Amino acid sequence: MRPEVESVLITADDIAARVKELGEEISRDFRGAELLVVGILKGSVVFVADLIRHLKLPIHLDFVAVSSYGTSTTSSGVVRFLKDLDESIEGRNVLVVDDIIDTGLTLRYLLDNLSRRQPAVLKLCVLLDKPSRRKTEVPVDYRGFTIPDAFVAGYGLDCGGWYRNLPDIWVVKTATAVRA
Ligand code: PRP
Repeated sequence: MRPEVESVLITADDIAARVKELGEEISRDFRGAELLVVGILKGSVVFVADLIRHLKLPIHLDFVAVSSYGTSTTSSGVVRFLKDLDESIEGRNVLVVDDIIDTGLTLRYLLDNLSRRQPAVLKLCVLLDKPSRRKTEVPVDYRGFTIPDAFVAGYGLDCGGWYRNLPDIWVVKTATAVRA
């Protein structure tokens, strides 16, 4: 059964304004440099698409796919690499972009893996941060919004594969979120 959304947590307008600010901040920090933006499939797709259009920098775009959630709403701690980067990152400026950091287990694994490939710079940008759920420390360099411990969907984030297309970010009804 499809889970149900109940209320808007962050509107499309507020997301757009914050994404623009993040793009400007990243552009300032990397001024004069080239950047490889690495989106994490699938949740980051909408955010990455908007963010890169606010980057006043020469960029390349690549994607990785890792899996941590399966079909439940809690992180298993088991992270699988489903698709690796197409490009080498050795000696390059890399910005990892994800939609949400929750337990941090996915990004901890990914950042550890990428840092062993010896990039010049490795930074992390997340749209949403749920700090109350963190199980491992992960330095977040660019953060869109800090949110409470609710299950959310929309703007690329899913619940059981649904709702990635919603322009706003919604809270999912807890009773319907568990099984999707
Ligand atoms: C989500 C999100 C992060 C991860 C965060 O991805 O995009 O990568 O979970 O959780 P964590 O901090 O507890 O590790 P998900 O596995 O749901 O895949 P998706 O991006 O394809 O929706």
